[in-house]
Amino acid sequence: MKTIAVLTSGGDAPGMNAAVRAVVRTGIYNDMRVMGVYNGYEGLMNGDIEELSLRSIGNIIQRGGTVLRSARSAEFTQESGRLRALETCKKFGIEGLVVIGGDGSYRGALEFSRLGVTCVGVPGTIDNDIGCTDYTIGFDTAINTVMEMVDKVRDTTESHSRCSVIEVMGRDAGYIGLEAGIAVGATSILIPEFEYDFDKDVLGRMQNTIVTGKRHFVIIVAEGVGDAMEMAKKIEQFTGIETRATILGYVQRGGSPTVRDRVLASRMGNEAVRLLRDGEESCVIGVRNEEIVHYPIEEGLAMKKTIDVEQYRMAYEISI
Ligand code: F6P
Repeated sequence: MKTIAVLTSGGDAPGMNAAVRAVVRTGIYNDMRVMGVYNGYEGLMNGDIEELSLRSIGNIIQRGGTVLRSARSAEFTQESGRLRALETCKKFGIEGLVVIGGDGSYRGALEFSRLGVTCVGVPGTIDNDIGCTDYTIGFDTAINTVMEMVDKVRDTTESHSRCSVIEVMGRDAGYIGLEAGIAVGATSILIPEFEYDFDKDVLGRMQNTIVTGKRHFVIIVAEGVGDAMEMAKKIEQFTGIETRATILGYVQRGGSPTVRDRVLASRMGNEAVRLLRDGEESCVIGVRNEEIVHYPIEEGLAMKKTIDVEQYRMAYEISI
């Protein structure tokens, strides 16, 4: 393979730049030309592409976001869009494509690979909701950001003997909520994977801890589980404890990646190019028990991830 390309797609995640850097450096190390595609699949359709040099991706390993920018493309889900992208690949001589993104981006890669361009998916999303990998690039940074932010909110929550309902990201997945919730010692963690009973799991837990002398409370609510503002009102109404809602929002998607994310991204980006170099079929990369693995895209997409019930139980037990 003489020419490959790299793009970032879907919601951005800290560590994507480290992955792009690893792809470019590994490609050039292996005598390939590496093209950078801007704006995800949109750029592939529109030819928004330039060759990346060793130095053009310098000084980005520590930066959040993605220098290649990202997009969610509706047009690429249509065959007409993918055929336009194929024309671009032919024009630039692109034979292999590294797609850094989430499962939506993987579905695009699967369809595109059927047109003859070998695609390798690298998991980049803060949500950690990709079945074929234990960890996605960006998750570690996101949970550390949540932890730092909640620690700050907690200071003022404690000073005023209040309750704080804090909404975290994760679309339909509770990985951020669960891990960050454990790390901040939340009284309740409400995530989409587990049904909850407001009286028992929120009010009841608060009441139980009040009896033992607790005066401030942090409730972590994953996006999609319920409205944090509404929940705060209800808590105040039923308990009489002043309650505030904080929606952390996009702060969770930015910032300088942690060591763990930089290293994971570097390993995955490197492996993606080595697979292309070695003539492997289209696939998606993951990490299992600290080892980098890969699976055919369809197989990887079919893998289901389940949240750790034991972790949830443990969090429940130690937040009394
Ligand atoms: O996929 C990552 C994520 O941050 C989700 O947690 C969130 O629901 C979503 O992206 C928000 O995406 P958008 O960029 O479309 O607002």
